[in-house]
Amino acid sequence: MQEKHELPESIDDTLALLSRGDYVAERSLATAVFLALRMGRPLFLEGEAGVGKTEIAKVLAATLGRRLIRLQCYEGLDIASAVYEWNYPRQMIEIRLAEAAGTASREALAQDLFSERFLIRRPLLQALEGKPGSAPVLLIDELDRTDEPFEAYLLEVLSDFQITVPEIGTIKATQPPIVVLTSNRTREIHDAVKRRCLYHWVDYPSAAREREILARKVPEAPEKLSREVVAFVQKLRGMDLFKAPGVAETIDWSRALIELDRIALDPEIIDNTLGALLKYQDDIARVRGSEAARILSELRAELGAV
Ligand SMILES: Nc1ncnc2c1ncn2[C@@H]1O[C@H](COP(=O)(O)OP(=O)(O)OP(=O)(O)O)[C@@H](O)[C@H]1O
Ligand SMILES: [Mg+2]
Repeated sequence: MQEKHELPESIDDTLALLSRGDYVAERSLATAVFLALRMGRPLFLEGEAGVGKTEIAKVLAATLGRRLIRLQCYEGLDIASAVYEWNYPRQMIEIRLAEAAGTASREALAQDLFSERFLIRRPLLQALEGKPGSAPVLLIDELDRTDEPFEAYLLEVLSDFQITVPEIGTIKATQPPIVVLTSNRTREIHDAVKRRCLYHWVDYPSAAREREILARKVPEAPEKLSREVVAFVQKLRGMDLFKAPGVAETIDWSRALIELDRIALDPEIIDNTLGALLKYQDDIARVRGSEAARILSELRAELGAV
């Protein structure tokens, strides 16, 4: 059994809670998390890739000692994968057994076949099973990848925290889950869904905060290397690339450089490891070589001046 923890009492408490899960949050994000927890409202997080949206839900589940239920969204996600479905193979076996025994009446059998015993609970239904004080964290990840009918369905679930299974009836949560929704904003999410949530745009961290994240996630990185890595990544984010590196890439790149026993950047090692940072050939071609060397000397001058 996981250990249960109380919900935070203040924004500072929330910052401390996230920090225990090695999550370095802006105060504005901690405020949104705090309010979502206190008010029992879903938290809707939008932001670029790799800025720590999904991680919030994982850290909340871990630090609050709650079960994490994850619904990964994709195009064509349907009720059978997201909510529930009937266990057809088991129903078939039950029918065969009843036939062989020749006992059960048809009505009794039909009723039995569509009872909870044969119900397969998918994430949304599982999320309604929480007991007071131990409701799970429900992560609805990358909602922008689903289609509108699913969003409409979700709207109902988020409004009442109840789900109707026609053959059984309405199942209502005694304790609503802690809900975190994320989106990469490949399309706009319907206003009606957003209205039910507290919204927060997760931005790229400042240089100081990103160094703090590195100190947590890659503690073996030397101070000088972290400073340079963060400064370099932050410069790339200002460059209008096709796909700017997220925090995930900063962490990856630092780990790669440590694997290569580096304690500082140099133009050659940057060129050879850009694949940890940039994932599009056009971006790599733009940065590799003289541009990387230019950025490096620029940031050296700036860091030296600090
Ligand atoms: N503020 C932060 N504190 C600690 N770690 C962070 C922070 N932001 C990002 N990370 C780390 O960066 C990585 C990527 O985070 P995450 O997967 O949550 O990003 P995301 O926003 O969900 O990205 P995507 O949109 O691609 O799914 C994780 O390993 C996470 O630990
Ligand atoms: Mg994510």
